[in-house]
Amino acid sequence: FSEFLTDSFGRKHDYLRISLTERCNLRCQYCMPSEGVGLTPQERLLTADEIIKLSQLFASEGVTKIRLTGGEPLVRRDLIDIVREINLIPGIDVIAMTTNGVTLARHLPKLKEAGLSLINVSLDTLVPAKFEFITRRRGWDRVMKGIDAALQLGYNPVKINCVVMKGLNDDEILDFVQLTETKAVDVRFIEYMPFDGNKWNYEKFVSYQQMLDIIRDRWPELVRMQDSPNDTSKAYQVPGHIGRIGFITSMSEHFCGSCNRLRLTADGNLKVCLFGNAEVSLRDVIRSGHSDEELLKIIGVAVGNKKKQHAGYLNRMGIFIKDLHSNLNTAKRR
Ligand code: GTP
Ligand code: 5AD
Ligand code: SF4
Repeated sequence: FSEFLTDSFGRKHDYLRISLTERCNLRCQYCMPSEGVGLTPQERLLTADEIIKLSQLFASEGVTKIRLTGGEPLVRRDLIDIVREINLIPGIDVIAMTTNGVTLARHLPKLKEAGLSLINVSLDTLVPAKFEFITRRRGWDRVMKGIDAALQLGYNPVKINCVVMKGLNDDEILDFVQLTETKAVDVRFIEYMPFDGNKWNYEKFVSYQQMLDIIRDRWPELVRMQDSPNDTSKAYQVPGHIGRIGFITSMSEHFCGSCNRLRLTADGNLKVCLFGNAEVSLRDVIRSGHSDEELLKIIGVAVGNKKKQHAGYLNRMGIFIKDLHSNLNTAKRR
């Protein structure tokens, strides 16, 4: 495995998350202000060719999985071409996408044909009116159609990402678990994370343990399942249900020790950690005509500087360590 993609703690980074756009057709409260985010001018965004070139380089160094994110990846017009090209890259076994699902059903057949292998859909509520409140847009029924279309096309499981926020959707946890009875979905309850400007506060936070207590109360027979290596989530299943549930415990039990992820922002910066401030522009390096070797050296330095873990966490008393808060960044959060 490439030394350039191995950090000083021995973590091998074989999973690259590529943000295709900062744009989104929703305005989720925990993610964006209602007016949207300031957009980078088009010419500063990576072109499809640049994305493919970088994907090839990362694949040649050992990356086997690429996830397309956003913003909302489906708003990018050349998405299908990008998937098709990535699918041709030797070494890439998995092409995944994280989407809000609103226009998924429409694009799905072509995406599948182009080689998309895994789909994660963000969905925080099963109540249409609440969806409008959280996302400031309509579209709940279209997201559900998208999930069903993916199941029908054989995506199994379809992962559902549900960010749990107190007083907003924590009363729906059991309804989400119920979904797994008849649908081959993997509902992942995500601990709400602080990002710049999303007004995170402890009052809105629901911990893994609290969610588990709610679910165990109703389903005492809940079974802990085996996680795959590098999984962000801890898997469980209600016996007899088709689907599964999971918990992404970034705050109460971070999983930085097994992190295998690198990120490429839509404007071409390499981010070695979701929470990190350090970014280096790979776009500028490729546009200035540097060789692959020079590019790899720059990537290697960034990966070498990756911190052991992120700064925001809950201590053993469940208290959020706030004074380290300033290390948390994210204009581009995925
Ligand atoms: P899988 O490939 O299905 O395991 O997906 P994933 O969990 O890596 O990606 P997804 O885009 O579905 O993200 C789900 C949640 O995990 C989101 O809330 C992300 O913010 C969080 N997440 C993804 N990568 C990281 C990471 O490197 N660190 C932390 N702390 N959280 C992450
Ligand atoms: N905390 C936790 N998860 C978040 N996501 C977006 N913002 C936050 C946050 N503040 C999730 C989205 C999406 C995934 C990529 O990240 O719901 O599913
Ligand atoms: Fe869009 Fe996703 Fe942010 Fe919601 S969380 S506004 S769907 S990018």
